[in-house]
Amino acid sequence: MSDRSTQSVLVTAATGTVGRHVVAELGDADCEVRAATRDPDAARERFDAADAVVAFDFDRPETWGAALTGVDAVFLVRPPAVDTDDVCAVVDATARVGVERIAYLSTLGADRNRLLPHYRIERRIEAAGVGYAFLRASFFAQNLHEVHRRDVLDRDELFVPAGSGATSFVDARDVAAVAARVLVEPGHLHVAYDLTGPEALTYDEVATIFSEELGRSIEYADPSIPAFVRRMRSRGHPLGYVLLMVGIYTTARLGLAERVTDDVERVLGRPPRSIRAYVADYADEFRTAGRDAAASDR
Ligand SMILES: NC(=O)c1ccc[n+]([C@@H]2O[C@H](COP(=O)([O-])OP(=O)(O)OC[C@H]3O[C@@H](n4cnc5c(N)ncnc54)[C@H](OP(=O)(O)O)[C@@H]3O)[C@@H](O)[C@H]2O)c1
Repeated sequence: MSDRSTQSVLVTAATGTVGRHVVAELGDADCEVRAATRDPDAARERFDAADAVVAFDFDRPETWGAALTGVDAVFLVRPPAVDTDDVCAVVDATARVGVERIAYLSTLGADRNRLLPHYRIERRIEAAGVGYAFLRASFFAQNLHEVHRRDVLDRDELFVPAGSGATSFVDARDVAAVAARVLVEPGHLHVAYDLTGPEALTYDEVATIFSEELGRSIEYADPSIPAFVRRMRSRGHPLGYVLLMVGIYTTARLGLAERVTDDVERVLGRPPRSIRAYVADYADEFRTAGRDAAASDR
């Protein structure tokens, strides 16, 4: 802990799915929050809760010094397009400037799968001599609107090749709440938390929840992998990204994404949000004006 009474926390990927909620959560804590983005001018208005919006780019080491100087704790994210070597170099830089702790957004099973970038980054953080908490998150509920919203809107279907495998979806807002806790509370050093939702659900079960919450029938299409690849490619998604999605859904299909833990509840003292709560909170994402007016009037 530094001599200064108020801790300073740098949030990387602050405009991202998890980072934006980490900034908001830290707004209620007694700390100075620096929201990091490649384009501070574009992002400034979005961050009421941040004390400062700073320029930070994993690909531009000249941005690291100003962003990291005087920082006690870092919420570290590897944005999907960023090279693992660059993230490792940032880890080394945090140690050099005296950062005390890192909360690293990792993925479930990263400790066992050497092929994942997260495996290598976790090992680098352990070697750097900085305090750390690895947040090994399950599949985010938010993928359902960020990636698959159009299938629900245009075709009333969930279109993912996951067969009848179940997934322990975690809400990105809960991941962020855990991150905020471990960044500012004592007692979370040199730990790894496996962050899942309260239950594992098949996509058939998720479709039923969508139908009930949106007031119209949503089907689980369960496409073949080639059909999934064709549709994602026809929307302009790069092949590498589509194959990454196939890998994730194959993991689910094989029953390897269904482990449920109580780590969110142990850290937050409350249960994680359910998929039903997620769909209710994000229902507008899955409704088109007009067609669903009746449903939203329920
Ligand atoms: N999706 C899941 O289900 C899931 C589950 C477990 C773990 N994860 C892990 O979560 C991580 C992604 O987190 P997320 O979904 O919160 O992120 P995200 O929404 O993909 O956001 C990434 C952010 O990173 C910033 N960014 C992109 N390139 C950058 C660069 N060169 N330098 C600095 N910032 C850059 C962008 O912000 P600016 O444009 O403002 O700079 C962007 O908002 C990945 O490592 C993934 O493996 C994901």
